Amino acid sequence: MKAKIIVNKNYQTGEISKYVYGSFLEHLGRAVYGGVYEPGHPTADKNGFRQDVLELVKELGVTTVRYPGGNFVSGYDWQDGIGPKESRPSRLELSRKVVETNQFGTDEFLSWCSLAHVEPMLAVNLGTAGAKEAGWLVEYCNHPKGTYFSDLRRRNGSEKPYGVKLWCLGNEMDGFWQIGSKSAEDYGKLACEAAKIMKWVDPSIQLIVCGSSGIDLPSYGYWEETVLEYTYDYVDYISLHFYVEDYERDTLDFLAKSRDMEQEIQTMIGLCDYIKGRRHSDKTMYLSFDEWNVWYHSREKKNLMAKNWPETASLLEEDYTFTDALAVGCMLLTILRHADRIKIACLAQLVNVLAPIMTTTGGEAWRESIFYPFAQACRYGKGSILQEKAESPVYDSSHHKTVPYLESVSVWNGESRELVVFAVNRHMSEHMELSVEAENFSNLILTEYLSFKENEITRKNVFSSLPPLSWNVIRYRESD
Ligand code: AHR
Repeated sequence: MKAKIIVNKNYQTGEISKYVYGSFLEHLGRAVYGGVYEPGHPTADKNGFRQDVLELVKELGVTTVRYPGGNFVSGYDWQDGIGPKESRPSRLELSRKVVETNQFGTDEFLSWCSLAHVEPMLAVNLGTAGAKEAGWLVEYCNHPKGTYFSDLRRRNGSEKPYGVKLWCLGNEMDGFWQIGSKSAEDYGKLACEAAKIMKWVDPSIQLIVCGSSGIDLPSYGYWEETVLEYTYDYVDYISLHFYVEDYERDTLDFLAKSRDMEQEIQTMIGLCDYIKGRRHSDKTMYLSFDEWNVWYHSREKKNLMAKNWPETASLLEEDYTFTDALAVGCMLLTILRHADRIKIACLAQLVNVLAPIMTTTGGEAWRESIFYPFAQACRYGKGSILQEKAESPVYDSSHHKTVPYLESVSVWNGESRELVVFAVNRHMSEHMELSVEAENFSNLILTEYLSFKENEITRKNVFSSLPPLSWNVIRYRESD
């Protein structure tokens, strides 16, 4: 099978924001307790942070981490998680029916971020709390000193403000499962008021308003239109969430699901631009794809909630296959293709819950299959997306039509003078002979070819074809 990509150095569609390589750490299952935080673990430091996990987070290359939820945030009082640990209350955590001990909270997370070299992305509770508490949290984190909450932070050990830049205005507020879910009108008004207060406290912050949790909800579309009418002038991004699973064990159809993600992105851009036009605004709304991944909802119903209010429970833990890694690769390339509009994206999640990094409590930490395409994109996917003319044979699957076997994105890094082609071959049995026609480059030399297929990662300095069912990174260097 033959395929072709034509790119031109002068046709750049958008700069890749560093925040598209984000992830997500929720108080859910063993993500925090037994994941990043486990006092007494052989690798734990004085804060209780597992160093084996921290090293893998650094190796993954994630740039920003969203916290503390997710559904969790909609019942969370951030003031429970600060101050002396012995006086922090244990609370019923209603979204997963566990007890939250609050031994890890905002200060622990922000210290962990600086050790992990990632930027925090904090979510405020707009389910059971409101605009006032959201403003207080911004004051606690970002105000220098001389007020109740900024001085409380200083007393709790952080003299300098954290300067948290990215803030989510609640989570999935359209979902019936959300604690304190709201109608589009109620959420739009509340998000607008919270946004005003939060930006009055710190005008340098950037805000993400909730879009629909999924395209199947009855309010899909109407939600975005209404919420943006209320918040357009006050927020910087609108969120999208998207999970896929291979519940029919139909690989070709599973790998085609990134096309549904493409559709969701295009619809969101259309909705944002419609509101922009209606309001005669010159402001462009950016997209925050702050939850995306493979999630086996169907086989995991039993693991969604704990029983009898334990302090820890193993929830939403996935043993990812190689095909899942390819699906993650296809989704990541779909996000990168829209680098002009998607400025934040978070692989949901980071450790133990729907995660590229897994641990055993008291034991080891390891990389799941989905770790690899994500880590390689973080490392080599820097610069500008090039407009691609791709030619590939196509297939029809059970639920998708004319799906190209080739999924690809080309990135030009002007600083390192590197052209990187990321490519997935969706074909189950045939190699793909891919020719890359790169126009307007002076002299391109292949420097490395990385290929990831079932049970095998190879690095070579020659490239001939893409193996069946494979993730590939082809790197060229421009010389004079
Ligand atoms: O990532 C797991 C859950 O998925 C999050 O808590 C929620 O926001 C979404 O439904």
